[in-house]
Amino acid sequence: MRGPDLADVAGRLRLVAPQVERDAPLGVEWLNGPAGHSTMLMLGNPPASLADTTLEDQERLVRGFISAQGELHWMIESEGRVIGAVWIHCVQTRAEVGAPELSLMIGDPEYRGRGLGKCAAELVLAWASKNLPSPVTMRTVVENEVSKNLILGLGGRPQGDVYKDQDGLKWQNYRLPVDEPPRIA
Ligand SMILES: CC(C)(COP(=O)(O)OP(=O)(O)OC[C@H]1O[C@@H](n2cnc3c(N)ncnc32)[C@H](O)[C@@H]1OP(=O)(O)O)[C@@H](O)C(=O)NCCC(=O)NCCS
Repeated sequence: MRGPDLADVAGRLRLVAPQVERDAPLGVEWLNGPAGHSTMLMLGNPPASLADTTLEDQERLVRGFISAQGELHWMIESEGRVIGAVWIHCVQTRAEVGAPELSLMIGDPEYRGRGLGKCAAELVLAWASKNLPSPVTMRTVVENEVSKNLILGLGGRPQGDVYKDQDGLKWQNYRLPVDEPPRIA
């Protein structure tokens, strides 16, 4: 399902509904080749699963973003360009991590490190504090220092111990605070 349109008070970014024709080609651009595979690893995909994606795969994926029940999906737009995606699984899908679970990706590496990932996560957390019944969880593979720093900077606190998934990847879950001040425009 699409999440409601959100924008930050400073006008740096907007969170908008996914669109198949606009976003599927971006998925191909973001996830293929060495940079794309590195992004997939940061997201916690096992090395053995890495392969280039196709336009058809991405069209199917974006259609799923729009139709899936129990999930909310937004595309991250900055300076009039879609640069990433953020999503919440509202229903628990994995035994190791509770719901709601927030994940995000700044797909275009040019836009990383500018505060946009943090801003997108803050917007969704502010919305979730008002609209979802329980605190948000995030998780990251422990090697992903950027993600870990992002989550700690958002006020996330480790929940439980580091654990291994079935692919042998090590993960840490975090609980995010619910009492953040509103940042939605
Ligand atoms: C992780 C990701 C979403 C962060 O978004 P971003 O826009 O690059 O990050 P921001 O510029 O908003 O920075 C947020 C925090 O991350 C940390 N950070 C950013 N760049 C970093 C770097 N190169 N090295 C270490 N920490 C870094 C900082 O703590 C920063 O907070 P601060 O500036 O207040 O200190 C983005 O890099 C990304 O999409 N990476 C690939 C996919 C991924 O890892 N997704 C996360 C899965 S949970």
